[in-house]
Amino acid sequence: MNRVGICIAGLDGAVASTMVAGAALLKRGLTQPIALLSEPYVPSHQLARWNEIVFAGWDPRGEDLYAAALRNAVIPPATLRPVQRALAALKPWPAAADRIAAFRRQHNLDTVIVLNLLPTGENAASKQYARLAAKHGCPFVNFTPNDCDEQQLRDVPFAGRDGKTGQTWLKSVLAPALRDRGLRVTGWYSTNLLGNEDGKIVGDPVLGAAKIRDKSQLLGEMLGYEPFHTVRIEYFPPRGDTKESWDYIEADGFLGLPLQFRISVQYRDSILAAPMCLDLCRFLALAARRGERGNQRWLSLYFKAPYGGPPHDFFRQEQMLRQYLAAV
Ligand SMILES: NC(=O)c1ccc[n+]([C@@H]2O[C@H](COP(=O)([O-])OP(=O)(O)OC[C@H]3O[C@@H](n4cnc5c(N)ncnc54)[C@H](O)[C@@H]3O)[C@@H](O)[C@H]2O)c1
Repeated sequence: MNRVGICIAGLDGAVASTMVAGAALLKRGLTQPIALLSEPYVPSHQLARWNEIVFAGWDPRGEDLYAAALRNAVIPPATLRPVQRALAALKPWPAAADRIAAFRRQHNLDTVIVLNLLPTGENAASKQYARLAAKHGCPFVNFTPNDCDEQQLRDVPFAGRDGKTGQTWLKSVLAPALRDRGLRVTGWYSTNLLGNEDGKIVGDPVLGAAKIRDKSQLLGEMLGYEPFHTVRIEYFPPRGDTKESWDYIEADGFLGLPLQFRISVQYRDSILAAPMCLDLCRFLALAARRGERGNQRWLSLYFKAPYGGPPHDFFRQEQMLRQYLAAV
């Protein structure tokens, strides 16, 4: 058996409730494991199966997970119904309560992961959860742009920072392709419309500064020069969790003649984030079993601002992941 506990800071949030509900549906075979890079490695690398994963976590909202999933309105109510009872039975612990040891004992867990899904800007609380993880020897994931004071995590495997889910992921796919085709990007304008709780914060010019920083910094490293680059996030409540991103790219081609790319993408933010969080927890449990400590750079493809720095190029990052897994 390979029993893994996942303790989520921000358990009632949009990403967390989507992740927990998704895992409950997967466990019952009610949905397919789409967008999960870890799934093909389950038998070969003894990654945790859905029935070996147990969730817990903290949230001052105190809502059970069914109520949280309904409020966050990412997954349609009809899809949630078969797992309603299981989700309603899960309630968060009060913020920062030190319950990890009891949780580990109660469920006879081999590994307990702490996953940070706090709101952007919650730096002090993020550090507090990282401290709890270090204290209990738990691998730690920082999916937020927040500062977790990673020094304190040197004795456990950890990965972060800031999930690379939508627009930035696409940028890290497209920029290397433009570079390798020899086209010269002169300008890249990116904007986002987002209407969920996260959007309320990251759309604020002050509170969202860390997110804008993480979204802005990678282009020069991938292209080898800095084009004119603008990144904006607009809080637009009618959009809810269904985010819209627009990219307008201006480039010079052969003979200096211009090319223009206009990319418009619409997606549920948390539907991209949740499987990435599940992958990260499974992979960090593997790293823990192998006795790894400190930053796990092979997981960089999941992050906008990976600890340890570049490469940001998705294909190079994907290679790092595959190489690590091939060597295990
Ligand atoms: N695609 C994505 O959704 C995506 C991508 C990259 C990064 N992220 C990051 O993931 C994080 C979570 O996003 P979300 O959309 O789920 O946000 P959310 O606002 O829906 O959820 C955050 C939750 O944290 C809880 N919380 C606040 N303070 C707390 C504390 N001290 N202890 C425990 N819980 C606390 C809140 O009550 C809330 O339920 C954000 O930082 C966001 O920037 C999300």
